Amino acid sequence: MTLRSPLMTVMTGAAQKAARALKRDFGELEQLQVSRKGPSDFVTAADLRAEKTLCQELAKARPKFGFLLEEGGEIKGDDPRHRWIIDPIDGTTNFLHGIPHFAISIGLEMDGEIIAGLIFNPVADEMYLAEKGKGAYLNDHRLRVSGRSNLAEAVIATGIPHHGRGEHGPYLEVLGGVMAKVAGIRRMGTASLDLAYVAAGRCDGYWETGLKPWDMAAGIILVREAGGFVTEVDGGKSPLASGSILATNAKLHKDLQAIVERN
Ligand code: IPD
Repeated sequence: MTLRSPLMTVMTGAAQKAARALKRDFGELEQLQVSRKGPSDFVTAADLRAEKTLCQELAKARPKFGFLLEEGGEIKGDDPRHRWIIDPIDGTTNFLHGIPHFAISIGLEMDGEIIAGLIFNPVADEMYLAEKGKGAYLNDHRLRVSGRSNLAEAVIATGIPHHGRGEHGPYLEVLGGVMAKVAGIRRMGTASLDLAYVAAGRCDGYWETGLKPWDMAAGIILVREAGGFVTEVDGGKSPLASGSILATNAKLHKDLQAIVERN
């Protein structure tokens, strides 16, 4: 966005500040205090610090808005219409393994609808922004989803259920179905960036189930503002509520949904 709105200025400022510390922490992984929150779901000191910085900076600019935080849960605001939905490090497993593919994700919800989103990969220095009705951008360049209409040429991203998260059998069946039809599948480990890659036309589609709102809030508006389609894997209209998401360019939704809806 060449001329950034006041809202985007607030969001990018908060993300830049949190990202500075996050990048330092990423470079000093050994020093981090790592504790186990659940199967394959790690919380790091960096995660908590980044969340705190994001909340402080956003609350400074919009003191009445509420929060839904990956680490801190729900914090009600005086303004019941607005809520930030935040993942301070999406791709925590990548982060912990020293894989430079993780992101800060900030969505803004108004009356239950996502109206703005920011996804920032600080290592690649890629800042994705979208605001309802104003388009989607990567570092000031307007984004469009890909134009591919043939599954055989499509690269599709997905998320594989972690150890301890649900049955793998049904997922593997769907994966087999998709593999048989597409040019390639990617499991990159950061849901928000998977969505950003669909918005940027790098991937032609993405599906995953069992997600949390903070994994996808910002990505949903990014894909829509880039001209793509976002539903649940069965075509339902509430991915944020169900945790099931199918995001594609404008042409592949029906064909991909026909395969993944059995997930
Ligand atoms: C995870 C990542 C991953 C997805 C998982 C998420 P986290 O988020 O987005 O790509 O497959 O379902 O939980 O835990 O790293 O914030």
